[in-house]
Amino acid sequence: MITIVGSGKVGGAAALFTALRKVTDEILLLDVVQGLPQGEAMDLNHMLSEKGIDVNIRGSNDYSEMKGSDIVVVVAGSGRKPGMTRMDLLKINASIVKGVVENIRQHAKDAMIIPVTNPLDPMAYIAYKVSGFDKSRIFGMGNMLDLSRFMQFIHEATGYSRNSIRAMVIGEHGENMLPLPRFSTVAGIPLTSLLPKQKTDEIVQATRGVAAKVIELKGATVHAPGNAISAMIEAVMNDTKQVIPVATYLDGQYGHSGVTIGVPAVIGRNGVEKIVELDLDAAEKEWFKKGVDSVKSAIAGLEL
Ligand code: 2OP
Repeated sequence: MITIVGSGKVGGAAALFTALRKVTDEILLLDVVQGLPQGEAMDLNHMLSEKGIDVNIRGSNDYSEMKGSDIVVVVAGSGRKPGMTRMDLLKINASIVKGVVENIRQHAKDAMIIPVTNPLDPMAYIAYKVSGFDKSRIFGMGNMLDLSRFMQFIHEATGYSRNSIRAMVIGEHGENMLPLPRFSTVAGIPLTSLLPKQKTDEIVQATRGVAAKVIELKGATVHAPGNAISAMIEAVMNDTKQVIPVATYLDGQYGHSGVTIGVPAVIGRNGVEKIVELDLDAAEKEWFKKGVDSVKSAIAGLEL
């Protein structure tokens, strides 16, 4: 059973894509708004009925119903408005996420938690600290989404099939995110030899900024985050051991500790089964550290 806390657009999209992947037989949508999760569940079940997919989606306002969840996804909180950075949401969302995680600790103590609310990396830290769960059971969705965008830019720039692209984005899900052309390939060919440096620099910058562009144009990002959440759920439920960049607690990896930030990890039935340490060069290390410093200064001000 998968629980999604927050039944707005991203929560609804996460339920939709997760159901289509057929990796669980039950999805619970939770929200404080009366009627919203119930209506969303009905709408989704009607769609699944035509498709002949037997995943049961329920909506509720009662946290105790999350009992028995394998995974709880935390999407609750305010989203970015045009002109805002993800960090601008820190104060508003910290107390919301803290409250949700206290409920997870009480009602679903064996679950894994996928934080999604922004600013993602500090929220993943709150989930880790407030739940008291082992760090392997908390992995935030941020870089998986950044990665979808980076791959789209690689597809546009090279013209090759999306299916042939393997890429990596790590670091803060924010202003200091770190798309990694040196660790990205198309059909095994390094991106750095496929594209001139100026073009690679351009798509790295575009990857950092494109969410703000989507928000400016349509008010929110919805399908790409919903799908990225479902990809992480699939890795756990099917024990795929896929390497996915997730926001997880570092304990010396990449030379940093006491911080939650995006790094590539092997994701399977036990959550984060291994953190993969890439051999970053000096410039990449510097970007990664800028992200760590930004997240550290955000979490230093939190009262947990
Ligand atoms: C995104 O990257 C806003 O963090 C959200 O789509």
